[in-house]
Amino acid sequence: MSLTADFTGKVVLITGAASGIGRATAIKLAQTGAELALGDINTLALKETLELCRPASKPDQIPMILAYDVSIASSCNEFVNAVLHKFGRIDCVFNCAGINPSSIPVEEVTDEYWDKLMNTNLRGTFNMTRACLPHMQGGSTLVNVSSVCGTNPVANFSVYCAAKYAVIGFSKSVALEVGHRGVRVNVVAPGYTDTPTNVSVRGGVEAMKRTAESVGMKRMGTADEIANVVLFLFSEQSSYMNGAVVDVDGGIGMFG
Ligand code: NAI
Repeated sequence: MSLTADFTGKVVLITGAASGIGRATAIKLAQTGAELALGDINTLALKETLELCRPASKPDQIPMILAYDVSIASSCNEFVNAVLHKFGRIDCVFNCAGINPSSIPVEEVTDEYWDKLMNTNLRGTFNMTRACLPHMQGGSTLVNVSSVCGTNPVANFSVYCAAKYAVIGFSKSVALEVGHRGVRVNVVAPGYTDTPTNVSVRGGVEAMKRTAESVGMKRMGTADEIANVVLFLFSEQSSYMNGAVVDVDGGIGMFG
């Protein structure tokens, strides 16, 4: 796919940029002239993303990277302050940091599992949104990640579903709050996407094959295919989309 959007001069923050969908989005944006500020809890993998972005980045546009935990509000505030110090503005935010789910019956869910999923997938999205919005001017955009599990109930995924449904409610409410300022907030809801962590939580290659078979298109999505939609939501091509949830799931979500 050829990209028509040009992000030259735009400052883009991505959380969860060290792997999967966040990394794919960073690499794609590096090819469009964006100034990137990449965050993740995993320092080593974040450095790998930086190296993957480097060939496409202009010499004066090497991405800024910072390791931090999205579930800690003060760390998010520090990250945003560092970005403002370096670039002076924030145009696009992709809240992508998240924990993919394990299959656990609700009676067996531990407090630790609840806290880990909620604090990363939901509180992390809130923390970064709250930290960034005061600095976002008209024309800027925010994209949050939900899931096919945020639009459909799935047995044994109750905590993940709770977090991802909540991301949608949160994003739509914030879209109503800031739309009058010309700031847009949208959600991307991926289906089964072939990313490193997803492979491990799904329990190996055979389980992945079964998963792919259950999708209308008989394959999993790629991180690149999700990134394409994120770039569209960031771009002027989606200028009248606000509070939207875009399913990118090969059709799997159609019948619940
Ligand atoms: P991934 O595991 O490949 O990447 C997630 C990144 O988030 C990792 O680099 C990880 O280190 C980072 N992260 C985790 N906790 C963090 C924290 N507390 N602070 C900062 N960074 C943290 O995952 P993937 O598959 O790329 O997923 C990205 C997002 O998309 C997640 O929110 C996930 O729930 C969502 N999603 C993924 C789907 C899939 O099939 N892969 C399907 C639907 C939604």
